[in-house]
Amino acid sequence: MSKMKINGGRVLNGEIAIHGAKNSVLPVLAATLISNGVCEIHNCPRLSDVAAAVEILKYLGCRVWSEGSVITIDSSTASKNDIPDELMREMRSSISFLGAIIARMGSAKLSLPGGCELGARPIDLHLSALRRMGVSIEDKFGCIDCEVEGTLHGEHISLSFPSVGATENIMVVASAAKGTTVITNAAREPEISDLARFLNSCGAKISGYGEGTIVIEGVEKLHGTVHRVIPDRIEAATYMAAAAITGGNVRLTNISTHDLSPVIPVFEETGCGIITTDSTLLLKAPKRPHSVQLVRTMPHPGFPTDAQAIVMAITTIADGTSLFVENIFENRFKHTWELCRFGASIKTEGRIAVVEGVPELFGTQVNSTDLRGSAAIVVAGLAAEGTTIVSGLHHLDRGYEDFERGMCSLGADMKRID
Ligand code: EPZ
Repeated sequence: MSKMKINGGRVLNGEIAIHGAKNSVLPVLAATLISNGVCEIHNCPRLSDVAAAVEILKYLGCRVWSEGSVITIDSSTASKNDIPDELMREMRSSISFLGAIIARMGSAKLSLPGGCELGARPIDLHLSALRRMGVSIEDKFGCIDCEVEGTLHGEHISLSFPSVGATENIMVVASAAKGTTVITNAAREPEISDLARFLNSCGAKISGYGEGTIVIEGVEKLHGTVHRVIPDRIEAATYMAAAAITGGNVRLTNISTHDLSPVIPVFEETGCGIITTDSTLLLKAPKRPHSVQLVRTMPHPGFPTDAQAIVMAITTIADGTSLFVENIFENRFKHTWELCRFGASIKTEGRIAVVEGVPELFGTQVNSTDLRGSAAIVVAGLAAEGTTIVSGLHHLDRGYEDFERGMCSLGADMKRID
């Protein structure tokens, strides 16, 4: 298993181009199934989760070509309605295939994705919506067996929580259902809007996305298209954090600045000066970050849960105490144990974490706990005096393309070692 060796204490400066969004490309790749044609998806990040999604598409019978950041899928040859357990386990978000397989094949057999490092990851909201739209679902022994009874039909779905994955699955099924579906309390993340734009370019009729109520008019037939995936707002926030913790000065390009509006004020509170255009961001960090009074993760347009760990890493060396409340996942503080190994002072109680800034961190051996937790400990390692060895890099590779190359281009001293 390879590890990352980081010699910390260097200031990060320079320019970096951000890749396409993992949490957009995954539902878009799954949704290509319902186009029943050829879709060319641009700006795809090269990630292990994307490779897993491609494997699932190929298993289902699609023909898939990859060239650089373009993935072309011909889903006209799709013929299967199941995803084997080993493929389901490779990617936690394989549940995003559920709606697309049902809409295309009329049935689906999947093993439940099960929990992950962040918690139970239930799919009750997905299943209750699908049942209302005409899908009978047997849920036993860790497998779900779905069958459309008669025809898929539009419904008024009111989500008790604005679940991103459930909103995505409902949009995909509703696009091919008979009649109109209205989703109230829908997720408003930028990745939802990107999926809606992709589906509309395939001939779907979706409106209201990005707002709390989405209306989908089902259509008889969809077709192939060309689509460019939006930039990854969490990758952008990660490079911002690397500059903020090392007192650096970085310029991000190929971003969607509007999607970063929930995180920019928090970086400014740490003392970072930020100048933006629609697609670029210039961040100039103070020598030592200031503490952040309160970071409360919320559904978009609130502060994103995926940026919680990386912002917490910055506050470990801040000149004061910072408070974090994690409202989205029940177990998203595992990175705090690893951050404390650097000498950070963090106390957690349930969904609350209190970070008392210390003057400096010290290099150590740390283990990645989950995707964004691993990014947070790399960010901490960049600032820590001495050498840090990070293990469990498979978490990092799920969500960051060429991470060490990107950080080294900004002046970091880090490399993979066996
Ligand atoms: C998506 O996960 C993202 N993953 C996550 O990013 C992100 O953290 C999350 O949305 C929230 O923004 C992808 O897009 C692939 P949810 P998802 O359904 O769809 C509860 C990363 O690091 N819930 O909005 O699984 C659930 O338990 C990953 O890139 C139910 O109770 O998120 C959680 O507490 C991590 N029942 C909350 O809602 C359900 O049926 C948010 O889940 C579904 C969800």
